[in-house]
Amino acid sequence: MDAVDLAAQLRPDFVLGVATSAAQIEGAAAEDGRTPSTWDAFAAVPGNIRDATSPTVAVDAYHHTADDLALMKDLGVNASRFSLSWTRLLPDGRGPVNPKGVTYYDRVIDGLLEAGIRPVVTLFHWDTPAPIEERGGWLRRDTADRFAEFAAAAGEAFGDRVADWITLNEPATVILDGYALGVHAPGRAKLFGAIGAIRNMLRGHGLAVDALRAVPVKGRIGITNVHTPVTPATDSKDDADAADLFDFIHNRLFADSVLFGKAAELPRGSKGIERLGLKFLSRLGRDAAVISRPLDFYGLNYYFPSRVAAGADPSGSTPDGETEAMKDVPFTLAKFPEYPTTGFDWPIAPHALGDTIDMMVNRYGDKLPRILITEGGASFPDVVGADGTVDDSDRIDYLAQHLAVAAARPEVDGYFIWTFLDNWEWAAGFTQRFGLVHVDLDTQARTPKKSFGWVRDLQRARRAARR
Ligand code: BGC
Repeated sequence: MDAVDLAAQLRPDFVLGVATSAAQIEGAAAEDGRTPSTWDAFAAVPGNIRDATSPTVAVDAYHHTADDLALMKDLGVNASRFSLSWTRLLPDGRGPVNPKGVTYYDRVIDGLLEAGIRPVVTLFHWDTPAPIEERGGWLRRDTADRFAEFAAAAGEAFGDRVADWITLNEPATVILDGYALGVHAPGRAKLFGAIGAIRNMLRGHGLAVDALRAVPVKGRIGITNVHTPVTPATDSKDDADAADLFDFIHNRLFADSVLFGKAAELPRGSKGIERLGLKFLSRLGRDAAVISRPLDFYGLNYYFPSRVAAGADPSGSTPDGETEAMKDVPFTLAKFPEYPTTGFDWPIAPHALGDTIDMMVNRYGDKLPRILITEGGASFPDVVGADGTVDDSDRIDYLAQHLAVAAARPEVDGYFIWTFLDNWEWAAGFTQRFGLVHVDLDTQARTPKKSFGWVRDLQRARRAARR
């Protein structure tokens, strides 16, 4: 879609931003006092990362702050979402605060403000300090207290300038991929035994909200989770029950706790599931009030819809890789042969973003605060052509279609493109490129892609319309 046509569909106050995360871009893993996170440890184990890479250098954003800020200013986005590395700010996971960590994020935040870009900070984008993980990580109750200390330290340091705070990024992914299936750090395949970690993570979220408000920080406060609309693969009752179970695990477990302040009711046909340990979930107990603190916005990440069939998948495939543990789960994630796919083989279905938003609005009603789409984007095998440009027209189509859907929903205040720079894609290493800016991994040279020019045109058209 033409950038000028799309510009006319975005409200003047609709926030168009880019999103990144510390472990995926910063590098400088052992510099200026930063200590290892669970992802440094996970990546050091052979076989865990598809291309055997690590976050040690990533795309070296730590040493490219000024260049990257200049590019972002040229892009003209309204906001930049980035995360704080817990172990750069609090080496070993607890005090005292590392002054060099504060200096780095001061530079980033002040640079954004000077460029007229809203700084949006994620406190936790998956990089639990290694010593905390070694003691049990999010399976331990007191990790939530450690996280609240980190939130307080971040709030003290940056609370006068940050526009929006996101406590956790995608607790669902951390629990499911990290603790239940083991395809992500910390690589534990505890299946339904991972469930206790949910309450700890969400308690950490609530305590962090309290800690930020106690500072008090100036910005708004929310949480981000990833949601997916779920449909059964066929009309059979078994597939319908399997889809309901997946929807429960992926969507309702997290959002019901945070927005309703009570654990989601066990899904239909849940007798067998109780045996799997899900019964435990019916209790948030004395943590319910903390977990459901009122929020200023709800961050929704959307990438693709899910189609679910009953029965275990003999190949053990998940959207984030194959794993033995998935072979023991009583459902299979089916394909969407009717849709085109991204480099990750994820189905491209923009209308399903609309379904996700509608699902949230209908289910949570007046318990749902304003929505920010805090991530959306696509990986493609982008290459720099002979003429030095990167033609990623597929990404432009993806973004245009998804932005149009998001902007048409009055409940949505903004959309953050995942991502600004090609980055380290967790277990997929550098095999997937999501950026508006291509990064040469040998030289760290940055080359804006065609999609970068498209976003810049879009933002220029929006500004011109306001004059
Ligand atoms: C995560 C990002 C990740 C993206 C694409 C999201 O689930 O928040 O960190 O890079 O998906 O895989």
